[in-house]
Amino acid sequence: MSRLVVVSNRVALPGENRAGGLAVALQDALEDQATEQRGGLWFGWSGKIDPVRSGMLHEQTEGGIDYVTIDLSRRDHADYYNGFANRSLWPLLHFRMDLVDYSRETYAAYRRVNALFAEKLAPRLRDGDLVWVHDYHLIPLASLLRERGVRCKLGFFLHVPMPSSDLLAALPQHGRLFEGLSAYDLVGFQTQRDLERFQDYVRLFGRGNVVAPGLLETAGGRLLRAGAFPISIDTGRIARQAADAVDKASVKRLRESLSGRALAIGVDRLDYSKGLPERFRAFERYLKRHPDQLGELTFLQIAPVSRADVAEYRELRQELEQLAGHINGAHAEPDWTPVRYVNRNYAHPTLTGFYRLARVGLVTPLRDGMNLVAKEFVAAQDPEDPGVLVLSTFAGAARELDSALIVNPYDLDGVADAIATAARMPLRERRERWRAMFDYLSVHDIAAWRHAYLASLAAA
Ligand code: G6P
Repeated sequence: MSRLVVVSNRVALPGENRAGGLAVALQDALEDQATEQRGGLWFGWSGKIDPVRSGMLHEQTEGGIDYVTIDLSRRDHADYYNGFANRSLWPLLHFRMDLVDYSRETYAAYRRVNALFAEKLAPRLRDGDLVWVHDYHLIPLASLLRERGVRCKLGFFLHVPMPSSDLLAALPQHGRLFEGLSAYDLVGFQTQRDLERFQDYVRLFGRGNVVAPGLLETAGGRLLRAGAFPISIDTGRIARQAADAVDKASVKRLRESLSGRALAIGVDRLDYSKGLPERFRAFERYLKRHPDQLGELTFLQIAPVSRADVAEYRELRQELEQLAGHINGAHAEPDWTPVRYVNRNYAHPTLTGFYRLARVGLVTPLRDGMNLVAKEFVAAQDPEDPGVLVLSTFAGAARELDSALIVNPYDLDGVADAIATAARMPLRERRERWRAMFDYLSVHDIAAWRHAYLASLAAA
């Protein structure tokens, strides 16, 4: 019986608002282990910044799960998290070469923080553990753990896209960075396309071979398993949560405020990968191209501020404020504001209630590893009167949710027309499309994702 060890930059400590799908998923995985008496450990950054020194440890145990987190110094937080992780890797992995800001200094900090994670984690690991490392912050962790004598199974899962190999190859030090993945036993991606692009990279730039699909021989001759494991949601729980949420005061207030008009909703971290300016423009295009529908649909965009220390994120915020003001200035009536733009965050159950009210869900990222909002929107609908999902073809979720209205977010006319189609879609078609997606998500839920990954890792 192995113990599960989860490692991620962010850790949802007991009592914290676990807004993200990922935090809930990992928490569930650890809780399952705890009930089976196998125990679990969650290791990562504490979320705290120390003025001078990285490495201060915090430990707590709750419900059979140990939480071990470390503080980062101001400088490491700036260079590892805001710097290399969020200004080099994040844009690169989202196909945004134009936004990549690389420096040797931030790359050194990234390695330094990964080494610190390895130093603090290695002595806590036992040979039979299954270690599951998450996301782009921690690519080199396995090699740094191996250097410290760790022999247990190490798995990695990339939550964000794996871009084309020519893009990856533009990153200075890409060879050293991505070769680090070969120290894992299993590398997981969101979709088959991400897996294929990784295999291309290993073949073209990584001096390795694809022995068979999903089995790679790396430059050093080590065998590495790789697979696609599309992350999902707790479908049943969200459906129940959404049905209950309609009685919440905030959800009732939203419904009343619409005065009988239909609602289109978008919920995204305020991030340039989410295609928010394009979405706002597409909504304006909808108002212009479909004047017969004017006043029928109110668009609510909830966009909690994210990574506000990074300049590109602050600029995006300004751009969206301008756009929302411009669209409302041009199209609002005394009794109707077409765009409602909100930067605050809501408790997760409240959001599911908002989704259930909506006739149209707008999920139109320019690139997204998966996008769990798309899946949650589907799970939250009223089966008798479901809303319609408008989904970007560049979200991983589009590979699975093919009964959504699939759009290209760069094609403003196309998105505008999809909004119009969604707003007036007959009930029967809405039900058919929703049913296909809901049935799929009922089987392919978060538990299925976790079991598939961990079974693969255990077998690797
Ligand atoms: C994405 C990443 C996660 C990250 C989350 C929130 O979903 O894949 O690793 O935790 O964004 O971003 P933040 O920088 O606030 O952790």
